[in-house]
Amino acid sequence: MKNALFNGTVMPGGEAFDAWANQPLLLSLEAGGIDWPSSCRNGTCRTCFSKLDAGQVRYECDWPGLSAEEKAEGYVLPCVAHPCSNVSLHFEGF
Ligand code: FES
Repeated sequence: MKNALFNGTVMPGGEAFDAWANQPLLLSLEAGGIDWPSSCRNGTCRTCFSKLDAGQVRYECDWPGLSAEEKAEGYVLPCVAHPCSNVSLHFEGF
């Protein structure tokens, strides 16, 4: 499958990063020089917890550490979330 490249934006600062479909957003953020909080990097600790202001993601693990309500409200775990579109997210943790 072709590795799609989407535009990632971090709010509220508006920093841009390349969001590749075949890797978690956390790796793309780091590759873009954006310092994003993380710990477990496997979707359980919620250190990277953030909210999608725009866009869609998918998960390769069956059930990342998010409730159904959180998912419905647009919260994501960038360490395991892969972008399916251009994404805009802001950090919600701590
Ligand atoms: S770094 Fe632990 S859930 Fe993302």
